[in-house]
Amino acid sequence: MAVVSRANSDYGRFVDEVKDMSLFPLWERVGGLKPGTQCVPAHWSYAEVRPQLIRACEMVTKKEASRRVLCLENPTLRGTTFICDSLFAGLQIILPGEVAPSHRHTPSALRFIVEGEGAYTAVAGEKLPMRPGDFVVTPAWAWHDHGNHGTAPVVWLDGLDTPFARFFGAAFYEPYPEEKQPLDRPEGESISVYGMSLIPDEFHSDGHSTPVLIYPYERTRTALDSLARAGKPHPAHGFKLRYANPATGKHPFPTMAVSMQRLPPGFSGQTYRSTGSAVFAVHRGEGVARVGEQEFGIGPHDVFVAPPWQPYCFAATSELELFSYSDRAGQEALGYFREQVG
Ligand SMILES: [Fe+2]
Repeated sequence: MAVVSRANSDYGRFVDEVKDMSLFPLWERVGGLKPGTQCVPAHWSYAEVRPQLIRACEMVTKKEASRRVLCLENPTLRGTTFICDSLFAGLQIILPGEVAPSHRHTPSALRFIVEGEGAYTAVAGEKLPMRPGDFVVTPAWAWHDHGNHGTAPVVWLDGLDTPFARFFGAAFYEPYPEEKQPLDRPEGESISVYGMSLIPDEFHSDGHSTPVLIYPYERTRTALDSLARAGKPHPAHGFKLRYANPATGKHPFPTMAVSMQRLPPGFSGQTYRSTGSAVFAVHRGEGVARVGEQEFGIGPHDVFVAPPWQPYCFAATSELELFSYSDRAGQEALGYFREQVG
């Protein structure tokens, strides 16, 4: 393309005039198309965040906050509540006896239970008791409320695709007229009916979210044990399992892929990068995560984010289990997803 001289005053006037008409000359754009975003790798130590969650309990009642959540904001996205351009992450705390009132929204949500026994979530008419390591599904526009029947605080990681809904101008929200939604499905129905590698003959998937509303850690651990016995670890990911929608074999959400991986003690993985933005939560174990130019010492319940196309790798000092979610599902649906190992 010929270089157009800015010294040419006719050209300068042309550019100014078309900009005033909300027209922009494409050849003037700096940068062009390339992978990655302005987001930076970031890490939240649970040892540092937990005391702030406890402080929040002293200062804000559940009634005042509706959801008592500290959002993990990317340092480049202050004020947005987002951990990266395409995902939300927040740590939510609920005290014994508290109820987070029922509502629904178009963004899809997941919960990964961090600590505490005795909490439940109710999703689409089914009550789901939650234990550490469980992954809970809240499909788009499904009613959901939470409560804590236990004797200690319960903390979980909320993961949402809110930026997608915002991007499309389709972020709807509705409170339920009462605190709790009616429970019209038996407890455990979604996993006992849809989570057995058998699908009711008359079931037709909408192709969106999985009909299984909870993936208990107990089952995940058993599957990881089997995978670890069956073969060698992947050079970058160790033993990694994707949570699947049993009706389609695809991801549990239209936008988000969700995984759990296990790295054996002493594992030192190859570098990997993908166009997916990924949020990791340490379920158990300790190690080191190197993301881009940064190195994070990681321990139980820490959260960190790997922005798109930034290389990352893991080393495990003890057996390390990492829960993660990413925007891979949305990118695959759009044909954007790319990855590289090594
Ligand atoms: Fe919600």
